[in-house]
Amino acid sequence: MPDRKTSKKPVLIFMGSENDHEVMREAVLILEQFAVPCEMRVSSAHRSPKRTIALAEKAARQGTKIIIAGAGAAAHLAGVIAAHTTLPVIGVPLDSSPLKGLDALLSTLQMPAGVPVATMAVGKAGARNAAILAIEILALHDARLRAKLARYKKKLAQSVEQKERLLRKSANKSD
Ligand code: RP5
Repeated sequence: MPDRKTSKKPVLIFMGSENDHEVMREAVLILEQFAVPCEMRVSSAHRSPKRTIALAEKAARQGTKIIIAGAGAAAHLAGVIAAHTTLPVIGVPLDSSPLKGLDALLSTLQMPAGVPVATMAVGKAGARNAAILAIEILALHDARLRAKLARYKKKLAQSVEQKERLLRKSANKSD
């Protein structure tokens, strides 16, 4: 049974620092496009480990269905959360250190067997894809969301074709 304080927000987004917000808000923007409510939390695997674990442990009881976690550097946030919940965890490695995200990518990706983190690309593309993947998971039981996803993919394809047309037009002009 969910808690009385069930949040009704199916997606919970963690970030390791307030400085990660600029990138992680890309996930929020996508979720808003699909009218999927989400909640954001700043919590660090290293600097506030007890709080991170407590939030991960109570997420399912509060109605969360999917967790997205973005962190940079020695990015253990998604992994620590995955160790403390049975909800699906999507990790977003961030470029916030001198190693430009390669450190975060490997730290997020290389989980031991039994504790999966679905790891996205580094940075804003990863944040956007994390939201889309979360929506795809929710859409397994939601026909309305599935229809929205189909429209989204169709628009993506159309925008590529439109850009190609513009490119050909300007190339023809300069001939
Ligand atoms: C990680 O360390 C955070 O996710 C952030 O990307 C990085 C640097 O944190 P700040 O020093 O900017 O707070 O834990």
